[in-house]
Amino acid sequence: MSSIKKIDQLTERDGLPKHLCELLDKYPRDTWTNDTLNGNWVGFWLGRHSVFREICSSIKHAIHELLDRKISHQNFMQQYIQLMNMMLHNLESHHMVEDNYIFPKFYKKSEKFRYGLELLENDHHLIHQSIDVLVAEGNNLISSFNEKKHIDYKLIVGDYSKVNESYNKLLIAHLCDEEDLLIPLVSEYGEEYFGLGH
Ligand SMILES: [Fe+2]
Ligand SMILES: [Fe+2]
Repeated sequence: MSSIKKIDQLTERDGLPKHLCELLDKYPRDTWTNDTLNGNWVGFWLGRHSVFREICSSIKHAIHELLDRKISHQNFMQQYIQLMNMMLHNLESHHMVEDNYIFPKFYKKSEKFRYGLELLENDHHLIHQSIDVLVAEGNNLISSFNEKKHIDYKLIVGDYSKVNESYNKLLIAHLCDEEDLLIPLVSEYGEEYFGLGH
């Protein structure tokens, strides 16, 4: 894998680098057709992305409910553990499939956008580093609840909320950039050209 420029890292950039937007400029989001979006592969793939966006928003909602004392910490822990397990399990397999099966198909057929595919693969590493921090902080939060010490809820849940926000920001930006790179390619050439959609 070639090295990714610092300004193009997921933590630094704001959208895809300009030189990778040639097809996105030709096929901006609001022109993506239902035919493309409901294609065998694209439809399934976007469905996975929706699941991640929904899990992120459910965890965020649970954190705010806890902060507003609308749910008990036991209730929060139940929801949090279930949602986080779902996130970890699904995201790991999703990234594995993209890195080993999907990206190589695009890589072979779209020389011009190879740097973009390397960028996305690099994002996966950064996202997993961020997950490690998120899980460690989540475990600390649960331990604090379980120890039933006199704790300042607002403070520790507020701190966790910030870590969760940084993770969400990275994941959502990655999903968006990934769609902005791959859907215009499918719009231009079709799924079958890349050996997808069977
Ligand atoms: Fe990805
Ligand atoms: Fe993805």
